[in-house]
Amino acid sequence: MHTFKAFRLLAGDSAPIRQFAELSVDDLSPGNVVIDVAFSSINYKDALASKGLNAIIRAWPRIGGIDLAGTVRESADPRFRAGDEVVVHGFGIGVDHDGGHSQVARVPGDWVMRIPDGLSLFDAAALGAAGYTAGLSLHLMELNGLAPGQGPVLVDGATGGVASVAIDMLARRGYQVTAMSGKIAEAPYLESLGASEVIGRVAPEDKPKPLEKARWAGAVDSVGGATLAWLTRTMQPGGVIAAFGNAGGAELATTVLPFILRGIRLLGVNANSPMPLREEVWNKIASEYRPARLAEIAGVIGMNELPEHLDRMLEGRLRGRTVIDMRR
Ligand SMILES: NC(=O)c1ccc[n+]([C@@H]2O[C@H](COP(=O)([O-])OP(=O)(O)OC[C@H]3O[C@@H](n4cnc5c(N)ncnc54)[C@H](OP(=O)(O)O)[C@@H]3O)[C@@H](O)[C@H]2O)c1
Repeated sequence: MHTFKAFRLLAGDSAPIRQFAELSVDDLSPGNVVIDVAFSSINYKDALASKGLNAIIRAWPRIGGIDLAGTVRESADPRFRAGDEVVVHGFGIGVDHDGGHSQVARVPGDWVMRIPDGLSLFDAAALGAAGYTAGLSLHLMELNGLAPGQGPVLVDGATGGVASVAIDMLARRGYQVTAMSGKIAEAPYLESLGASEVIGRVAPEDKPKPLEKARWAGAVDSVGGATLAWLTRTMQPGGVIAAFGNAGGAELATTVLPFILRGIRLLGVNANSPMPLREEVWNKIASEYRPARLAEIAGVIGMNELPEHLDRMLEGRLRGRTVIDMRR
């Protein structure tokens, strides 16, 4: 029987045991579409899961990887046929269903999306769950009134995967972008993506004023915690925040005053969207939201380098997106 290589996480005492294994399709979680995975990537959730943090994975063994791009090998779902180029992210892959860190994946057809015209397999993986989150954030902010010319849009956690793609998308669409990063030495990278200003992280304050100088028309928030609280205090009247991350903390200590005096809007973003919304946003990502600097944002590694890069992400030593070439 044909075997393939997968990176599995097994139950361990204090942290999961990481293992490269030779598997066959029957070893994978069930599904009616089998995909030869060309590329996967590393998202923050994968890094947390690989260390057993936040109880992301509860049943073992599990193949991690919350996104993948590949070619359908066989399908019992009539919507797909061998050779179709597809992307899968979310729906529990890499969490409670075997995910993308494997040369072959098997998933239900309802989770599979054809890659939109104009995007390659590599593009789809370089974007992945992170690029979709950036696109969904922009889509939701624009539905809530954000448009170029209203003032700067702040992107925090700026060197991260979602944020790097968001800067690129926003700048290309005509927004003025301020990048906030803990790595000021990366200012040339952030400017190359289209940021017109790079600022350092804000320090948490003990007793902040409920409102500060109004600065941002929009904000894309990877960080949460004290940074998100600060954003609520510094948005322009009517300003829109897309909040999807908690890289800096899950708490939110603010007041109602920015909401009732400035009419700011705080939008929650969950990238695990239903399929019709995914298709709508991915089609925008392939056209009017299309990033211009994906090749610069995405570094490529081979499967063997995956464990080291998962660790690096939690240590804050990765920049942009990390794509795994499954054939390397
Ligand atoms: N809601 C959803 O559906 C969804 C989807 C995708 C991602 N997410 C979440 O979004 C966040 C970003 O994901 P990602 O894949 O882009 O991760 P990532 O590549 O690791 O980026 C996170 C960035 O946040 C900044 N950061 C890290 N630790 C921080 C801290 N303690 N305080 C302040 N800033 C810190 C760093 O940027 P700088 O060094 O440049 O400051 C880092 O590059 C994660 O929390 C992830 O779980 C949620």
